[in-house]
Amino acid sequence: MRGCPDNAYRGAQRGGGSGQQRDRHPVPTGKCRGPFKCIAALSRAAVALLSAGPQDHQRDPEGGVWPRPPHPKGRGFTGGHAHIASLKGAALRRRSRNWKRNAGPAAMLLLRAAAIAAGHRLPLPRRACSRFTPGNPAAGGRRGAATVLAALLGLGAALAYGERRRRVAQAAQAPPSSRYPRYTREEVGRHRSPQDRVWVTHGTDVFDVTDFVELHPGGAEKLLLAAGGALEPFWALYAVHNQPHVLELLREFKVGELSPDEAPPDPSAAQDPFAGDPPRHPGLRISSRKPFNAETPAELLTERFLTPNELFFTRNHLPVPAVDPGSYRLRVEGPEGRVLSLSLSELRSRFPKHEVTATLQCAGNRRSEMSRVRPVKGLAWDIGAIGTARWGGARLRDVLLHAGFGEERDGEWHVCFEGLDADPGGAPYGASIPYGRAVSAGADVLLAYEMNGEELPRDHGFPVRVVVPGVVGARSVKWLGRVAVSAAESPSHWQQNDYKGFSPCVDWDSVDYSSAPAIQELPVQSAITHPRPGAAVPPGELTVKGYAWSGGGRDVVRVDVSLDGGRTWSVASLAGERAAPGRAWAWRLWELRAPVPAGAQLEIVCKAVDRSYNVQPDTVGPIWNLRGVLSNAWHRVPVTVTR
Ligand code: MTE
Repeated sequence: MRGCPDNAYRGAQRGGGSGQQRDRHPVPTGKCRGPFKCIAALSRAAVALLSAGPQDHQRDPEGGVWPRPPHPKGRGFTGGHAHIASLKGAALRRRSRNWKRNAGPAAMLLLRAAAIAAGHRLPLPRRACSRFTPGNPAAGGRRGAATVLAALLGLGAALAYGERRRRVAQAAQAPPSSRYPRYTREEVGRHRSPQDRVWVTHGTDVFDVTDFVELHPGGAEKLLLAAGGALEPFWALYAVHNQPHVLELLREFKVGELSPDEAPPDPSAAQDPFAGDPPRHPGLRISSRKPFNAETPAELLTERFLTPNELFFTRNHLPVPAVDPGSYRLRVEGPEGRVLSLSLSELRSRFPKHEVTATLQCAGNRRSEMSRVRPVKGLAWDIGAIGTARWGGARLRDVLLHAGFGEERDGEWHVCFEGLDADPGGAPYGASIPYGRAVSAGADVLLAYEMNGEELPRDHGFPVRVVVPGVVGARSVKWLGRVAVSAAESPSHWQQNDYKGFSPCVDWDSVDYSSAPAIQELPVQSAITHPRPGAAVPPGELTVKGYAWSGGGRDVVRVDVSLDGGRTWSVASLAGERAAPGRAWAWRLWELRAPVPAGAQLEIVCKAVDRSYNVQPDTVGPIWNLRGVLSNAWHRVPVTVTR
């Protein structure tokens, strides 16, 4: 719209949020440059008069800074309808002012022209056309001028009528013009803190997300990195945002639109930070590509006790860092400020290699079952965010002792890990475990450089990762860059504000992350891998297969399986390695064979029992939590037996 000469009177119709758009082309003020311009001016005046009624203006508010729409669920919400009504009221008042300002002079122009045409001495000195106003005061001249003006007026009115009809037809086809004010990127850029309000853009929309900052699942500090600018580069990095429900949530915070002549963000400017990620096996079930997150297909999970590296689930929060093994150094911060810096070959050669078979499970494994009860935030994992590998590396204990730490430390201490993957603000992925676990000979915590007898794959932490057996996967930091002993847990977002469990009554308005401990040992878990939900199986003998595992080294002592939704039970047979008491780091695969009659509808259910007689809860509802973590209810698989 801006700069279009045809819009001479649109000032009366079109809103311009920042005020820069208003009245770029006001009603002509009499600087006539010739008869055609004069006709055009008259026609436009007529158009303005005919088309600029206040009723039209209700569609197109005009600028200024609008009141910020309140967050519909947040504090200070006064009700959407009341708010919209007040916005409409303000818009209407503004439009009606504009109508007076713009249509009024247009009407005056026509009245003056009509008066002259009628022989009145009401000259059009500046308002209309000075060259066209007869210089000769003789009556004939006036009559001639009046005739010409009358003709022009008639022509103008006809043109105006045609123009009006054309606009009406155009308006019927055009999408409704925006009811939002317009802002420049510079104006948006002034809103970078909660004090100045936090604004962001997405596409051409402007959002005030101040009330959402503290609720941001990725942490307030992450959202503030994008304050005052476009979200796109960050969403390129955290592609989990590119989902309809995120856009829907964002829409609630819309306060304006970018001025039309603001160029859209250059997509090449946000260079793809994931371009260097490694190639992946196409068999993985992908839940997000950037960052890459994918699970092992359930059908394959229990085919082998050890999950093949290429099909092992991957949980990345950030791009995979490209680490040169030749120049890699692991920084271990020892007591009294001493630092141990280890190359990969030093880690391999100075410390005995230790091998541990351990299952890693993501805190969000089976989250999709929780979101069926009520929506949760996070990747929709099925049952495959779990896998078992034989990990090889140095014991963390050996490295810590070598760095000068003792077997024991008075008080509460934590060993903090930092990955070499970092967010756009430079914050690395981080996590911590209690010091006691880190130095315990029985806890088998590794600085692993091998996975199933091979060098660690890039997706799984090349060249060195932590493996904390029996503990949620989030603490097994990949691409390990730094180890430090601290009186406090890792300050990382993933330790402080994520991977924590809450009551089902806690929602995003009431959640207080500091009130819950970071997840360490995971609860007992089991799932059915065969048959798959909704499968049709032949009558006769059915083989049900699955996995079972418990955190903290507690071995699974039994898996109960039901084919009738939990009314009757059988005990499955367990396969897999037997472990030393308290060091059962790996899952048990299990199997049950049972006869199934033709045409039966089965609800296959499994539940595991661990060494401490912990059992899985029967339903998801009572363990539902807003992040969808720790989902370990009985696994239920409906199956039809064919005839
Ligand atoms: N370490 C780093 N540096 N960055 C990460 O994103 N993800 C964690 C953990 N270690 C992560 C990390 C999470 S949440 C899990 S579940 C495991 O790695 C997954 O390990 P995997 O991808 O090898 O299966």
